[in-house]
Amino acid sequence: MHLGIDIGTSGVKALMMTDAGQVLASRDAALTTSRPHPGWAEQNPDDWIAAVQAAVGALRHDFPADFAKLASIGLAGQMHGATLLGADDRPLRPCILWNDGRAADHCAPFESRADVRGLSGNIAMAGFTAPKLLWVAEQEPHTFAATRMVLLPKDYVRLWLTGEKATDMSDAAGTLWLDVGQRRWSPELLAATGLTPDHMPRVLEGTAVSGHLRADLAAEWGVSPVPVAAGGGDNAATACGMGVLEPGAGFLSLGTSGVLFAATRDFRPNTAEAVHAFCHAVPGRWHQMGVTLSAVDSLSWLSRQMGATPPELAALVPRDVARASDVMFLPYLSGERTPHNAPTARGAFVGLAASTDRAQLVQAVMEGVAFALADVHDALGRSGVAMGPVLAVGGGARSESWLRIIAAATGLTLLIPESADVGAAYGAAKLARACLSPGFDAGHFNPPPIRATITPDPALAAAYVPRRARFRQLYAAINGAQH
Ligand code: XUL
Repeated sequence: MHLGIDIGTSGVKALMMTDAGQVLASRDAALTTSRPHPGWAEQNPDDWIAAVQAAVGALRHDFPADFAKLASIGLAGQMHGATLLGADDRPLRPCILWNDGRAADHCAPFESRADVRGLSGNIAMAGFTAPKLLWVAEQEPHTFAATRMVLLPKDYVRLWLTGEKATDMSDAAGTLWLDVGQRRWSPELLAATGLTPDHMPRVLEGTAVSGHLRADLAAEWGVSPVPVAAGGGDNAATACGMGVLEPGAGFLSLGTSGVLFAATRDFRPNTAEAVHAFCHAVPGRWHQMGVTLSAVDSLSWLSRQMGATPPELAALVPRDVARASDVMFLPYLSGERTPHNAPTARGAFVGLAASTDRAQLVQAVMEGVAFALADVHDALGRSGVAMGPVLAVGGGARSESWLRIIAAATGLTLLIPESADVGAAYGAAKLARACLSPGFDAGHFNPPPIRATITPDPALAAAYVPRRARFRQLYAAINGAQH
């Protein structure tokens, strides 16, 4: 039995997988995010540990005999969070999360001090880890001076699980301190934020053993001190779960943010269009990724305003959407990454009429997110990535209407896996299984069975061509002055 643990933003998921790759069960424990100032997003690192204990505790309670056969553990997690530890290995302040924008003004200074784009393959963006440390140095100098180690969220959990300070290549790439082409920490990038490689944990391939479960925790859980794999950032781990390892393979994650992920065999940055180029969690592979920041988050926002749940709203849009909405929605509620790199961009509804109803607003939100994903897909294409059919995962992928809209807007063929449990925790469990074998074996990362395939509907795709042009014009009209 292998345990995958994903430290997500809205909760922790713990998943048990058999040696054959079958999901036995998973359990979740919720997390909350505090927003002490507009644009800030923080979590208390010890809440992750309490949530891991709760989710793992539920698995132990419900499946005691299977859990006792635990052979390995793998970790995945939300990327980019800055967890600052003092000399006693305790957090000095709440973790500054991936969706926190406070470091917006520290990105340009960081880029002026080092070849950030060349070495890291990425534009410095406010959500990434390195610029946050410049903010801390400026605004909380005592905390900065006391910082001995910077860990990513899943790696703080690893420290608790194993006593080891380690990370994996994919998550490390999202700090902007990694030389992504060479797969090692960059002293130059670290120095640009006043840090040295001593502030970093060991960086390993995701399939490597990072340590073993602490003896006291193993005794508490009733298992052996099993190996803990280095694991991956949530997107790379999801790719491992779905067998997205080779060029042409990719996935769409329709979660809080919307992610298009494409596996590559080489380091191929396209910073001009804010595409991310990161290491994969498996050796010898990289990936390109584009992110639209408010995907399901846009529907969640509308659901809060309307007093209905996102699934209730999604159900208002017919499964066989036949025509484009008259209303246009720009989904830039939290700014945008790909292709605009515009942290202060904002959203809009345009084209409202007295007759506009809820269903039209919901369809407009789904289309706005789909057009943003089409922009992401085009940017990936211009970076030399050709995507075949992609697997669709995440909470939003439960809506077939939304997937049909996205297929028509992007031209992508979408594959719906049979099981919904194919996210980052599943990938973490596969990385856990892989860490027990010497060398790298792609056989550990086979794609899951597919339940349905959604191809772009030609009539809807044709209707979206002028709508997409209008979408881009509206972006320029509303947010264009920011560039
Ligand atoms: C990736 C990113 C998000 C987080 C959230 O760059 O910021 O996908 O990993 O989980």
